[in-house]
Amino acid sequence: MAARRCIAVAAHKGGSGKTTLAVNLAGALGASGCSVAVVDGDPQGAATIGLGIVPGSLSLYEVLIGAVDVRAAIMATAAPGVSVLPATLDLAGAEVELPRRPGWQTVLAERLRPLGELFDVTIVDTPPGLGVLSYMALSAADQVLVACPPDFLAVRSLPMVLQSVERAGVELIGIVPTMVERRTRHEADFSAYLEQSYGDRLLGAIPRRVILRDALAAGLPITSYSPRSDAAEAFHRLAKGVLNAKTTT
Ligand SMILES: Nc1ncnc2c1ncn2[C@@H]1O[C@H](COP(=O)(O)OP(=O)(O)O)[C@@H](O)[C@H]1O
Ligand SMILES: [Mg+2]
Repeated sequence: MAARRCIAVAAHKGGSGKTTLAVNLAGALGASGCSVAVVDGDPQGAATIGLGIVPGSLSLYEVLIGAVDVRAAIMATAAPGVSVLPATLDLAGAEVELPRRPGWQTVLAERLRPLGELFDVTIVDTPPGLGVLSYMALSAADQVLVACPPDFLAVRSLPMVLQSVERAGVELIGIVPTMVERRTRHEADFSAYLEQSYGDRLLGAIPRRVILRDALAAGLPITSYSPRSDAAEAFHRLAKGVLNAKTTT
């Protein structure tokens, strides 16, 4: 078993496949026997919904403001080995409230620390952009996975993403090509560009499959929803790559 660690899933552009990556990587790690906590860092709560959880009164927001201990707010899901710290829209308020407090940059890291005693891996899903929540997620993480679809704007934002990863002093596990398909010239061109420019840093590849949307809508990782699909297989391969990646801890 790899050392306990906290992995942030990042990308600056919304719709890059971050949440799909976070939820399904968690499913694959859980299916391989790891205990995994998914921390939903996006006020829109897509990872929470994607793991079949309807958020109640306890969410990441209450944990962040110190109203409740993370161990009380984390919830088990139907996916083996996977728990989630849900997000609600309240979390959007934390983007405004928290920076008024001294030392806000490390608040998430401190609040999530107890998860290290309970889970082998913590995965933090982040909202789009470079806001307070994304900054805190990078500060809390030891490692990061960057999601990148074959799309001009996503590929164009990669140097900025990598710069913020470097500034945060987090180890890049890899850039994961998401929604991989070469049906259009645009997708083929940007897949090729990703391989040429970032080949040594690419890890795994997630195909574009409607079944991944179905799984998210059903509230299950693909490894539970359709364990024999090629999409599930892609996440099992990615999970192996993540577990084999060297750790800083
Ligand atoms: N590999 C994929 N194949 C098909 N649809 C995908 C894939 N990855 C993501 N999607 C869909 O694309 C949309 C954006 O993905 P999401 O994971 O929510 O991105 P982000 O969290 O970066 O905003 C969602 O509707 C999701 O279901
Ligand atoms: Mg998302």
